[in-house]
Amino acid sequence: MSNIIEAKGLTRKYRDGDSTTTALDNVSIELPEKESIAIIGTSGSGKTTLLQLLGGLDYPTSGEVFVDGKSLKDFNDNELSHFRNKTIGFVFQFFHLQDYLTAKENVALPLIVSGKDSNAAYLRAEKLLEQVGLSNRINHTPKKMSGGEMQRVAIARALANKPKIIMADEPTGNLDKENAKNVLDVLDKISESGVSVLMITHDEQMSHRYQHVLHLDKGSVIQKGNK
Ligand SMILES: Nc1ncnc2c1ncn2[C@@H]1O[C@H](COP(=O)(O)OP(=O)(O)O)[C@@H](O)[C@H]1O
Ligand SMILES: [Mg+2]
Repeated sequence: MSNIIEAKGLTRKYRDGDSTTTALDNVSIELPEKESIAIIGTSGSGKTTLLQLLGGLDYPTSGEVFVDGKSLKDFNDNELSHFRNKTIGFVFQFFHLQDYLTAKENVALPLIVSGKDSNAAYLRAEKLLEQVGLSNRINHTPKKMSGGEMQRVAIARALANKPKIIMADEPTGNLDKENAKNVLDVLDKISESGVSVLMITHDEQMSHRYQHVLHLDKGSVIQKGNK
């Protein structure tokens, strides 16, 4: 079976004047297609840095990332953003929705941007909102939704271009317990449907939901496990 994610020896150093921070130090990771992984670590352990490297949002100081069998090194900027848009769906802690657009318009946006006919885009957006349990919020703007609902809109949007993997950076970090559970349940369903999920969290208790777990501490892998 092939790996959706494969990275070897990832190091990312940030230079700030005379000082250098090693945010990530020689991290390797593999995730088979259609499987899920939790990346766990305390604040500052390098989780976001790792997600950005694996998602092609940032470049490693050394090491190489393969996503769906392609080395991200081999792409120019345009090719990389095209590849990213069709392969990866991102979900962030603070939703990043457009405030003046409805749920349906937010989800349809990436489809319209990638050239899909707007009627078809809205139809697909409605289906995706149904899938995340929001058929009753289709025409709501973010202001009229709870944080958990906004995050589910963001998840529906991340699914719009049928990605092979969802990368989520502490998507429940800003939610109360009940909303957090709803969001995690939705992501579990997505994972069961055959989309890989890479979940970043500082919450050890979430790890049981994922097939693989990687623990980071001070930029290094301290533990790797499989269910
Ligand atoms: N753009 C940046 N410039 C300088 N240092 C950074 C930058 N981003 C992150 N860091 C540092 O790298 C380390 C890891 O950060 P990060 O990946 O955000 O950790 P986490 O997501 O686990 O909280 C921290 O020490 C952080 O301060
Ligand atoms: Mg972070």
